Amino acid sequence: MKPDGVTVAQRILIPLVWVRIPVGLLGKLLELFSATFLFHISRCHMNAPLSRHRPVMLRETLRELELQPELTVVDGTVGAAGHAVEILSRILPGGRLIGLDRDVGMLQRAARRFRKTHPENLLADHLVLRQSSYAELDTVLQAHGIETVDRILVDLGLSSDQLADQQRGFGFQQEGVLDMRFDTNQGSPIHCWLNRASVEEITTVLDQYGEDPLSGQIAQAVVEMRRKEKIETASQLTQLIESVASGRGKKGTKTHPATRVFQALRIQANSELEHLKRFMAKTAPQSLAPDGRVAVITFHSLEDRIVKKMLQDRAVWKSSSNKPILPTALERKMNPRSRSAKLRIGIRAD
Ligand SMILES: C[S@@+](CC[C@H](N)C(=O)[O-])C[C@H]1O[C@@H](n2cnc3c(N)ncnc32)[C@H](O)[C@@H]1O
Repeated sequence: MKPDGVTVAQRILIPLVWVRIPVGLLGKLLELFSATFLFHISRCHMNAPLSRHRPVMLRETLRELELQPELTVVDGTVGAAGHAVEILSRILPGGRLIGLDRDVGMLQRAARRFRKTHPENLLADHLVLRQSSYAELDTVLQAHGIETVDRILVDLGLSSDQLADQQRGFGFQQEGVLDMRFDTNQGSPIHCWLNRASVEEITTVLDQYGEDPLSGQIAQAVVEMRRKEKIETASQLTQLIESVASGRGKKGTKTHPATRVFQALRIQANSELEHLKRFMAKTAPQSLAPDGRVAVITFHSLEDRIVKKMLQDRAVWKSSSNKPILPTALERKMNPRSRSAKLRIGIRAD
């Protein structure tokens, strides 16, 4: 729209009508105009966000990390780089960002995101992306000749992009193979475990990691079903859970009965709590410089308990959040994934 209220299209079309352009030619011009419009739409689509994941508590995390130019920062769960691109912008000039993820597909996504937000030559000098667990950050730092870093962020769990991937089996509404590994080169798909574990083992995992009230019944149903056919896909397991729950959590209720089971199996498939314990006990204290800050975003009460307890060790952490920082009511509404999130900060003792 031009300032005088006449659109570009009107500027072209009105004079053509005045000079009585033949209808056929006018049609051709309209065709050309609509083709240009469609081209514009498709370009807009090409520029669509690279990720469907919304970074949780972004504002709070950036504030608590107290970022400034020249800092060396680790994003231990870089994902689609939602937090990381903002971190990098705040530590330049002179800063360096090391982004880790166990999922090589997420690292590729992060790299694409960075190329959109920062020039290539700058990224070459200030960004390192590596496939690794944050629990093995010490090894990555050693390989790069870095002794300590100033800040570390870990944002646990899985990305909305992984959840939406039909081939990974993270989501219960999918046809894909029940795999659930972040790093598909390590270990074996979770369906292998599910097809050999005992009723007691399955019950324990569903109970501890999913706090599922139906853990025993679901475990029993799994063992009965696999006598007839192996459970290999997400949808097979979902159907089984729905039959055990017999309608609970369907229409009218907020949480599907498979949610807790899928969460528990994902934690088991990736030994998530073991990685977090090693990180909090060893990797983070060893890798952070005195006064350095760690920020941990958890989504599960067991994770939060581990972080809270470890941060209370005053020989290692000179200060830590007594109470976790929570997402605002608005964020919880806009991004349901944030509902269970808790952010805790620790400051490394000298
Ligand atoms: C919640 S997402 C991170 C999202 C990211 N902060 C963003 O804003 O785009 C969690 C990511 O951590 C990765 N992840 C999970 N456990 C990990 C571990 N032990 N080490 C490294 N990455 C891990 C997952 O593959 C996933 O990409």
